Amino acid sequence: MTRTKIIAGNWKMNTTSQEASALIQALAESHSGWGLHDHKKVVIAPPFLYIQEAVAAFGKLSHLFVAAQNCSQYENGAYTGEVSADMLASVGAEYVLIGHSERREYFGETADILLAKIRLALSKGLTPVFCCGEPLGIREQGQTFAFIREQLETCIFQLPENEISQLVIAYEPIWAIGTGKTASPEQAQDVHAMIRAELSAKYSSGTAQGMTLLYGGSVNAKNAADLFSCPDIDGGLVGGASLQADNFITIIKAMK
Ligand code: PGA
Repeated sequence: MTRTKIIAGNWKMNTTSQEASALIQALAESHSGWGLHDHKKVVIAPPFLYIQEAVAAFGKLSHLFVAAQNCSQYENGAYTGEVSADMLASVGAEYVLIGHSERREYFGETADILLAKIRLALSKGLTPVFCCGEPLGIREQGQTFAFIREQLETCIFQLPENEISQLVIAYEPIWAIGTGKTASPEQAQDVHAMIRAELSAKYSSGTAQGMTLLYGGSVNAKNAADLFSCPDIDGGLVGGASLQADNFITIIKAMK
């Protein structure tokens, strides 16, 4: 089975309007030289404000998609400052990051909140990219697998098979995010294989084998090819290195 490979760029709370336009244009203009084929996608997650511009620029280009970095756990109504899954779908976003460690840590997002977001996103036709990953202390105690299993059990494993199979999962060890410390390909592959085995045990091997699992955490132009050569790593969720077109394009090209 050919799994879809994805390189996703998470811009976080970066870029002015002018910087965002320049980055979007640089990607749109160069994309024909990236060697993308049917099972390979590039997704960018700019701040909400620039989603429509990215959708317009990528609209007719194959393999390029737009994600939001978050969505509300509520459907609509009196929730000042929130952006709903429905709004995102209506402007042409196709993916939404859910459960990034920064959302969990700084905005208090719990497994229940994340599950509500995922259900809403799916109901509006968005593909959730569910993020999980352990802090350094947990890794040092040798509890990584147990920690990730718990993150899966309490959230996405509550979904039926026909829903979970629509998700993308990103493994992002917190100690590797924005620190310049990448998980080694072996460390990342071990967790990815564990996640796939859990999916297989809980659902079916077909579902487990079909799902795209991304690695995130200080992916850069130098380490990308080694990470992406691992059998259970189907691409990357890239933060800092997605803010410079040259770096991001090198990472995209590292995906074989
Ligand atoms: P980083 O961020 O590549 O800057 O480490 C990754 C992420 O948080 O998605």
